[in-house]
Amino acid sequence: MKQSELVDLLGRMTLREKIGQLVQLDGGCFGTDAVAVGPRAKLGVTQEDVDVCGSVLNVLGAEEVHRIQDAYLERSRLKIPLVFMADVIYGYQTCYPIPLGLGATWDPELIREDYNLIAEEAVADGCMVTFSPPVDVVRDARWGRCLEMPGEDPYLSSRFARAMVEGFKGDGTPQKSLASCVKHFAGYGAPEAGREYNTVDMSEWRLRNEYLPPYRAAVEAGCDLVMTSFNTIDGIPATANRWLMHDVLRDEWGFDGPIITDYAAIDELRAHGVAANRREAAKLAMNATVDIDMKTPCYAHELEALIETGEVSLEQIDTACMRVLELKNRLGLFEDPYRTCSPERRTEVTCTPERLESARKTCDEALVLLKNEGGLLPLTTGGNAPCVALIGPYANSRDIIGMWAIHADKTHSVTLAEAFAEVLGDDGFAWAQGCPTLDDYSELGEFGKIPAFGAPTGEGADLETMAAEALELAASSDVVVMALGEHMLQSGEGGARTDITIPAPQKRLLKRVRALGKPVVLVLFNGRPLSLTDVIDDCDAIVEAWFPGTAGGRSVADVLFGTVNPSGRLTVSFPHNVGQEPLYYAQFSTGRPAKTSTHSGRFVSRYMDCPNDAMFPFGYGLSYHTARYDNLRLSADELTADGVLEVSIDVTNEGDIAGTEVVQLYIHDKVATRVRPMLELRDFARVELAPRERRTVTFILREEALRFWTPEHGWASEPGAFEVMAGPNSRDLLVGEFELV
Ligand code: BGC
Ligand code: BGC
Repeated sequence: MKQSELVDLLGRMTLREKIGQLVQLDGGCFGTDAVAVGPRAKLGVTQEDVDVCGSVLNVLGAEEVHRIQDAYLERSRLKIPLVFMADVIYGYQTCYPIPLGLGATWDPELIREDYNLIAEEAVADGCMVTFSPPVDVVRDARWGRCLEMPGEDPYLSSRFARAMVEGFKGDGTPQKSLASCVKHFAGYGAPEAGREYNTVDMSEWRLRNEYLPPYRAAVEAGCDLVMTSFNTIDGIPATANRWLMHDVLRDEWGFDGPIITDYAAIDELRAHGVAANRREAAKLAMNATVDIDMKTPCYAHELEALIETGEVSLEQIDTACMRVLELKNRLGLFEDPYRTCSPERRTEVTCTPERLESARKTCDEALVLLKNEGGLLPLTTGGNAPCVALIGPYANSRDIIGMWAIHADKTHSVTLAEAFAEVLGDDGFAWAQGCPTLDDYSELGEFGKIPAFGAPTGEGADLETMAAEALELAASSDVVVMALGEHMLQSGEGGARTDITIPAPQKRLLKRVRALGKPVVLVLFNGRPLSLTDVIDDCDAIVEAWFPGTAGGRSVADVLFGTVNPSGRLTVSFPHNVGQEPLYYAQFSTGRPAKTSTHSGRFVSRYMDCPNDAMFPFGYGLSYHTARYDNLRLSADELTADGVLEVSIDVTNEGDIAGTEVVQLYIHDKVATRVRPMLELRDFARVELAPRERRTVTFILREEALRFWTPEHGWASEPGAFEVMAGPNSRDLLVGEFELV
């Protein structure tokens, strides 16, 4: 449609129809038999609300989308199609590793290609808008939604935000492009004490420097929608926060697409205590320029009255409605209301060999080798291969996709045992579960009723028999691979925890296996940084597998048996102890830095009972080769406002196998009007090295990279001394200095 036709369409719409475009309802409202007692009644919406509603939440399936769209258009006066929006976060039916793992690839180019494939697969089955990418900066391992994000660093998360949005956009054709919605705007990753949905309160400079950049990168890359977060910012819930939505997002950043709330967030303004009733809630959200109300009757039932009283203007409704119409028009829905989805398209593109291979390649890059004492890994195969025992709740589990892969087809996921069998043959190893995932499944609440998450099978299954079987297996093997981790439902939304260690029954089993004196490899499945203090000495090697997705088993086998030389690097700090949280590498010095303060031992910034730093720091990961970093040099000792500084470092593969290094560049602004972090990531490069190869990596630094949010409320750099550091992770760095003049 031409813009003039859209304007004409808007002109023909009644107020009720315009408001309808601002309402999003879920599938229950469109079910053929959902009459009075179904989801509609529960929500308090009427058939008339459904008949004018503008979008549908989390319904996918080409047949369902056709059915709902057809029935809707048949009743609709102006034939404005519904737009179908859903959570396709790290894969549709082909499931990639959770975003913490995607981050660990440090390979945004690869992720862009993956998201292209994801878009095509999701579009074929009826998805038109995805609520992705989530790019909340995550610095508190207690928060369950760490899982969904690329990590703790604003620069790295921005690079991924851009790549993901561009990936979803694809080539722009309806078959290969998905509209994206960055979330959760803003600061959702910083709830106090890591508790889900809790208060977020931080200074504006911290918000600007550390939390907003990834959302902004997504907006600049052209993402189509923005989702409000559940939390408060400066005491005002994001969904009612005009400063955040209007002043920052729209005015400063120029975003003019639809803003959608997170699930039921307008109605929740009452529980926050900023609205006395739904009418006030609707008014606050509308005045914050929030366009789409996800799953509450607030807009549907209250906006008309607010217009009558003049508290909301017709112009506001027109603007919001036009944003939704423009989105539909950009998606081509007026020409093809199904946006090419069909069962045939789905069959053509779903879980194709190309997709399964792409998930495996990405997963190969996402795994992080955290420990490899005595070079235990890779395990040898063939003639002299050791006899392997594979033990633990994740030894033969398909539940390795992570909580947000709600549409993934688990039948395609390959378990560890299946992958081991491919490499070693059925007779080359044996596996046993050994223990349940948890002692007590009640922590999982109603989700706990979902079967087959590692609970002992059978009525009153005997735990000791289970353990004995595993121990016997371990005792008769040369090496034990323990596949342990969090229950899949212990992370993700609503998965906040104060205990971030491996669940108790698994620790007990690990210690009993350790006591047998065999070499132990720990393969970890988890959706957050874990505290590994109480198991670190019970194993010789650790592979962090996250929730690795469809290809998970094969990728873990690739790494364990050395087909792949691991290259993943952490994008989140792994603490020694949960009491360190929130923990992140970009710490400030404080006036009494632990290592360099002149004050005596006790009176410096430190814990009495735990180190300050991470057990495994940001950027960390091992490989099967070793690398040497040396000869850090700068092209000049000064940088001017319009100049460039070249920072070079030599990297040598000292091993006999090819490998990849993730070379990282950090800066430190030594003196500024506001305190600056001791380290801030500014660039990185994945470098492939042949055996014994030495390469020089050169980064370009410009003044722009030195800017921060200053006390004058703007982005600027300040002349003076800077350190620049490069190396394999945020801990082991070579340091140079220059002056910004
Ligand atoms: C989550 C969002 C998600 C939405 C719709 C909410 O509970 O916070 O991330 O997009 O539901 O499913
Ligand atoms: C303490 C103050 C105290 C001052 C003088 C400082 O180390 O923080 O509370 O008043 O010493 O003794």
